[in-house]
Amino acid sequence: MIAFLANMSRMIPVSSRISGFTYAIRNIVAEARKVEASGTRVRYLNIGDPIAFGFSTPPHLIEAVSRAMRDGHNGYTQSIGILEAREAVAHDFTRRGMPVSPDHVVLTSGTSEGIELALGALADEGDEVLVPVPTYPLYTAVLAKLGARAVHYHLDPSNGWQPDLDDIRRLITPATRALVVIDPNNPTGAVYPDATRRALLKIASDHNVPILADEVYGELGYNGPIAPMASLDPEAPVIAFSSLSKAYLAPGWRAGWLAVGRSGRMNDVLVAIRKLADGRLCSPGPMQHAITAALTMDRSHQQVFIDALKERADVSLARLNAIDGITCVKPESAFYAMPKVDLPAGVTDEDYIVSLLRATGVLCVYGSGFGLPAEDGFFRVVFLASPGELHEIYDLIAGFTPRFIAEAAASRGAVSARS
Ligand SMILES: Cc1ncc(COP(=O)(O)O)c(C=O)c1O
Repeated sequence: MIAFLANMSRMIPVSSRISGFTYAIRNIVAEARKVEASGTRVRYLNIGDPIAFGFSTPPHLIEAVSRAMRDGHNGYTQSIGILEAREAVAHDFTRRGMPVSPDHVVLTSGTSEGIELALGALADEGDEVLVPVPTYPLYTAVLAKLGARAVHYHLDPSNGWQPDLDDIRRLITPATRALVVIDPNNPTGAVYPDATRRALLKIASDHNVPILADEVYGELGYNGPIAPMASLDPEAPVIAFSSLSKAYLAPGWRAGWLAVGRSGRMNDVLVAIRKLADGRLCSPGPMQHAITAALTMDRSHQQVFIDALKERADVSLARLNAIDGITCVKPESAFYAMPKVDLPAGVTDEDYIVSLLRATGVLCVYGSGFGLPAEDGFFRVVFLASPGELHEIYDLIAGFTPRFIAEAAASRGAVSARS
């Protein structure tokens, strides 16, 4: 008994890298559960999952997966994925201007695993990877796991959240192993003009640093699909990533892919990614069959989805900008907006978001979870809810925010008057 108790008090140690692995989008849910337990209805605007908001996976994709299962495709596949789906991916990239062959394609468990394989193939401990701020947090989390360093370049809210090219040029060093470009962007909803994309490709080529082109929202541009970045220069060192999660409404299937550009200087990277892919056997097999169906059959669901997103973006922009103390840049794609609340000095974005959650049940993610300074007051809204529900949510935010700002400013004033 004594030995048992002694063992209980000696915790099994965990890797020190875990302390750098944070993922605010999911971490904040613990607080939301407490609010829910106290009887308040929580509106989860933290996760970009269209299914959670009533959108449906296209039936022909469900049929492709269930047919694959019925036909016995339930074993491991080749680690890079079935040829038929890789051909469909390669054909789709080639049609959209990024010529690749099926052997440059690897099927992955979502875009997420593609990102992990690519970073694992490129970055050693201590190496640097240029990551935007604000960023989709998986990049910094994976780099923490690898012991590599995320070096942050600035996306400029006063310029429609476009990347600051001079900042990128300044931050590249001999230790830089990759440049992450998320276009269309999460969390800002921005789309980059061709001139910016060309400049990024030139920086990558000049410095021999590959671009990790996260294009998971590429088909959700409000003004039409966005061509793969590498279509502007197929010889540039680029790895493109996407999946069925967003534009094909099947996030839980974990069906994604990456394509390594045709430039000869990417050959070792391709070999390294394929080697890492061998180690995890394969991505989910039956879902690979849905990739073929998604990229070769009817995509009319996308226009319906985009029309719904545009309507929600318009509601969000109008309602957020009408709130005293909040401003928001117009999103051009996907289902995210990144508004800014004017916080009194000394108050953080997390203070605001947690207070909003406790007072109203509305759950957003604070900007510092995407790497922004906590005092800047940015937060991310996922606007997939119906326009009716969005109006209710913005009523709650509008009722809460000016009061929060005034009370926070008054209590700060009282503190500084005393000190
Ligand atoms: C920019 C970005 N990249 C990657 C992912 C992960 O997507 P997947 O479900 O394909 O792994 C997301 C999910 O929200 C995302 O926003």
